[in-house]
Amino acid sequence: MESIHEKAQVLIDALPYIRTFHGKTFVIKFGGGALDGGGEESLSFAQDLVLLQHIGIRPVVVHGGGPQISSLMGRLGMAFEFVNGIRVTGSDAMEVVEMVLTGRINREIVTMVHRHGGRAVGISGRDAGFLVGTRKVHDGRDLGHVGEIVSVNPEILDLLDRHRYIPIVAPVGVTSEGEALNINADEAAAVIAGALKAEKLIMMTNTRGVLDDKGELLGSLDREEILSLIGRGVIAGGMVPKMQGCLRALAEGVGKVHVIDGRIAHALLLEIFTPEGVGTEIVRGGGE
Ligand SMILES: Nc1ncnc2c1ncn2[C@@H]1O[C@H](COP(=O)(O)OP(=O)(O)OP(=O)(O)O)[C@@H](O)[C@H]1O
Ligand SMILES: [Mg+2]
Repeated sequence: MESIHEKAQVLIDALPYIRTFHGKTFVIKFGGGALDGGGEESLSFAQDLVLLQHIGIRPVVVHGGGPQISSLMGRLGMAFEFVNGIRVTGSDAMEVVEMVLTGRINREIVTMVHRHGGRAVGISGRDAGFLVGTRKVHDGRDLGHVGEIVSVNPEILDLLDRHRYIPIVAPVGVTSEGEALNINADEAAAVIAGALKAEKLIMMTNTRGVLDDKGELLGSLDREEILSLIGRGVIAGGMVPKMQGCLRALAEGVGKVHVIDGRIAHALLLEIFTPEGVGTEIVRGGGE
């Protein structure tokens, strides 16, 4: 059984991390897959957020919702298609995407944080002109409402931060004409982390990290290794936009970028407060 002394030691071991990260911004992408893993892990995620906030770290959460969107589209009898991990989004699909992301998942995360004594406010890219973008054309293909972010207006995040609310961001953007855009949540997290010059971007997903062709965890990857793994098809599907987001965040000045297993209880604390870390760290290449 753990003694009082061991408990004290755990807290003291966390002290250098608390001192280093006090006042720093962490952007945390919580994948829809991780959210679907069951109640307990998601609740532990909310607890971790509240703890981070109370020790003076500024968490900004961006969530996904791929499996939940597919599930509702299936129940509504709607067909869906992916191109390189990106959902082709016609007008009907966009309605479902926005309903599930801002109407359901966003609210669930906000509520979980409040249940643990934290303070959170849910926003989408439409609020206060936060994420403005345009439709994205992929290899000459029309992907409907799939968008890319053109400008980030972080004013709303500063406002929430000043009053100590954790922003929970649904990755829905808006065009200058007011049309809704389906933004890949990894891309949204990367762009927001870049705009805030975040200390860390942590991608919480439904695998142990980035895996090689034998299913082994890759502890650290740089740009060249990632491009080669994508070229060989080892990194595929939803992991492609995630890796692109990680590289973009590093290029835009984010300090550190990690892909970790959001299905593990308290994965966030393990990543932040232990020297070993968990999952895959994405690093700048040698020459950069
Ligand atoms: N080399 C790889 N290592 C790990 N996962 C991989 C790899 N290549 C492809 N994948 C797939 O990528 C998936 C993770 O991306 P996915 O988009 O499904 O989840 P997410 O981004 O966490 O959630 P959401 O899209 O809802 O935000 C894994 O579940 C796995 O199926
Ligand atoms: Mg994804």
